[in-house]
Amino acid sequence: MVELDRIADGVDLARKAHPRIRVTYAVKASYHRPILDAVRMVGAGASTFSEMEMSLARTAGFAPSDIVYNGVGRDGAGLAAAVDAGVIVNLESLAELHGLLHARRASAPSGRIGFRVNGSAPGGSDTLGKYGILGLPVAQLPTVADLLRGSGLVLSGVSFHHFANRLNGTAHLDTLDRLIPALTPLTAHPSVALDYIDVGGGLASRLEVDDESAAGMFRALASRIDADLDCTTILELGRFLVADAESLLSRVVDVRESGSVLVSILDATTNYLIPAPGHRFRVERLEPLAKGETRTPVRFVDRLGSTICENDCGPLRPGALVAVLNAGAYAGVMKEHFVYPLPDVSFVRDNAVVATSLAGGDEAVRAHHHWPER
Ligand SMILES: Cc1ncc(COP(=O)(O)O)c(C=O)c1O
Repeated sequence: MVELDRIADGVDLARKAHPRIRVTYAVKASYHRPILDAVRMVGAGASTFSEMEMSLARTAGFAPSDIVYNGVGRDGAGLAAAVDAGVIVNLESLAELHGLLHARRASAPSGRIGFRVNGSAPGGSDTLGKYGILGLPVAQLPTVADLLRGSGLVLSGVSFHHFANRLNGTAHLDTLDRLIPALTPLTAHPSVALDYIDVGGGLASRLEVDDESAAGMFRALASRIDADLDCTTILELGRFLVADAESLLSRVVDVRESGSVLVSILDATTNYLIPAPGHRFRVERLEPLAKGETRTPVRFVDRLGSTICENDCGPLRPGALVAVLNAGAYAGVMKEHFVYPLPDVSFVRDNAVVATSLAGGDEAVRAHHHWPER
């Protein structure tokens, strides 16, 4: 069950933190159409990471100027078309830039590009981690600016995405500490007209971060970017917006004892839960405690024996209904982990179901794995 109001409210929380914040939803966190609609209806944009995702965002009705197009190894023609359409394009490498410059027609209108920078620090380890590989070293931005001379394109934005599952904004602010001094001298370049800094995603779910610290973090980032660079702050929020909007309703299949702990086996299982490993699921009972009962600790496992979480939720009997909270991010993009059929999904607004997407059975598994028609 996906609570659409929670998503709209999360967008508002981020936007109200500072007048120069633009919220985009990183669509890979969940491709469900009602989620994209909920985001668009409250005026947020879409952040996309491939041509396919950009096409999903266009189909869902996002205006080109509300779409951020990230990616790696994209060809020049596709990039030129996106720039001409007014999409916010963040290039990732000099090869992409050369491809774009080569593909641009002589008659193309003037346009803007952004550039993703990576997290490698001069003098740091020479084995680059995940976030050191994607994007250009900041030191190469002057080369980008020089290459843009006479092209009709200006560098209007800089983006980064260096983190995952942060509970506060200190790491994002540290990145700005390093980035801002490197960008300031660039602003005098004739091919640079910076108007946004895109700080990527990287926050844990709203349930984990808590609203006050999230709003404080957004405000601190945007105030710094506004004061030092006179730029808008773009947020690309994935997990923060959708993780805790989705709850997985599940039934207790069986109950076992393990030492002093009650183990409850749920019918929610790995194809729903693998995608967000370590993401502090919490299971909540949906049935009231009987008179005189108090909550006791329960370890929840799935039907493959993997632990989901342990929290005070018991006593529970076989057949009881529970909700696995915080289960909404990145489940869809990992659908290939079929073990059991996918569940029905209900989208809820104002306490009413406004849309449903029906479960896939074994035919969906076959289609996903390209089995021939029978
Ligand atoms: C470039 C970029 N932006 C934003 C996100 C969303 O991240 P999160 O779910 O941490 O908000 C991702 C996720 O991988 C990403 O690659």
